[in-house]
Amino acid sequence: MNATCKAGTLKIVVGVAGGIAAYKAAHLVRYFTERGHDVHVVPTPAALSFVGAATFEALSGNPVSTTVFDAVDEVRHVRVGQEADLVVITPATADLLSRAAQGRADDLLTSTLLVATCPVVFAPAMHTEMWRHPATQENVGKLREHGSIVLEPAHGRLTGADTGPGRLADPEHIGAMALLSVARPGAFERNLEGRRLVISAGGTREELDPVRYLGNHSSGRQGYALADVAVHRGAEVTLVRGDTAELPVPPGATIVDVVSARDMDTAVREVAADADMVIMSAAVADFRPAEVAGAKMKKGSDEDALTKLVLTENPDILAGVVTRRREGQVVIGFAAETGDDNATPLDHAKVKLRKKGCDLLMCNDVSGGATFGSEDNVGWLLSSDGEVSEVPEGTKHSVAAAILDRAAALLPVN
Ligand code: C5P
Repeated sequence: MNATCKAGTLKIVVGVAGGIAAYKAAHLVRYFTERGHDVHVVPTPAALSFVGAATFEALSGNPVSTTVFDAVDEVRHVRVGQEADLVVITPATADLLSRAAQGRADDLLTSTLLVATCPVVFAPAMHTEMWRHPATQENVGKLREHGSIVLEPAHGRLTGADTGPGRLADPEHIGAMALLSVARPGAFERNLEGRRLVISAGGTREELDPVRYLGNHSSGRQGYALADVAVHRGAEVTLVRGDTAELPVPPGATIVDVVSARDMDTAVREVAADADMVIMSAAVADFRPAEVAGAKMKKGSDEDALTKLVLTENPDILAGVVTRRREGQVVIGFAAETGDDNATPLDHAKVKLRKKGCDLLMCNDVSGGATFGSEDNVGWLLSSDGEVSEVPEGTKHSVAAAILDRAAALLPVN
């Protein structure tokens, strides 16, 4: 942590290169300042053709300069980078990636990159062709070799009418990943290269009639965070997504949308067949209405149907994955538990791990609604060999990295 900052706050340099997505850097500055961090914006001269310095100065509360010739007496081209706890470049254009990969120092931002010894995170944004060009991919590889983190761009509408990978990732995603790089320096180790991961996230909706369903409070945040981190460890990720909060879609993951537990079961069966790892972080409904009414159930017309719901059990997707698991496949379950007079959440989780037969079980204490929808999580990771380790409180991305550290170690060597 930088000596000039309050405890817990970081000195963050937000570098902005000259691309149309430069305006989104304003949201990232906000993301960091709202969390109490001290933000210094360093745009390239071209970035200021898109967004004026006044916007960044007002949002960060700090002066903005682009050139090494401002405040020369303070040796700014060296100091900005030396004092930073984190440098995030958003958007990182093809040109900026190229200059950074070559180690050029022709403006304040690239000089800062050469000096910084803290985590450096690039959030690329450019047209699909530029992103896929071998020169850009080589630069990305080089920057990763140098120890920088290059995030995946999102897939979607680009400037103009074209769509494809190259869109700047959501500022909330960039912010969370950047803070993870400081909280867990090993989080981006590419130890899942070429591995196929299936991750389920969110709740299921069990239809009751055409307007009602039974659901739950799951936001899907933990599953999304697992997908985010796994993609950046080099995995091929399929995210089977039920009902979730509005969250940035993990860039680089393949999305399969489902509604009910039975839909999720069908989707997971299909994609898990050749997966190296299956993580069931979804909150699957254990029961569904035995009958789905074809028309809206009316108050007063069939009292029994609404006051005495008859439920039937859903398939246990996780148990099915365990039964069908292929050689070497690692299976991870989740257990949101509350304690009672006879047992703690951890006691319940130990029983569940044995019952489900998975390799690892992430247990959280959800008494009082804790963790649902929150950005943070905490709990225990139970392993089938009886080991229980505490997962310290942190963002869901940081918990995801802790789970993937343990899970990656269980994979057979390639
Ligand atoms: O039994 P319980 O619902 O607490 O188990 C939680 C774990 O089992 C989670 O990993 C969840 O995704 C999975 N599960 C499942 N199918 C169900 C119910 C839960 O795969 N029908």
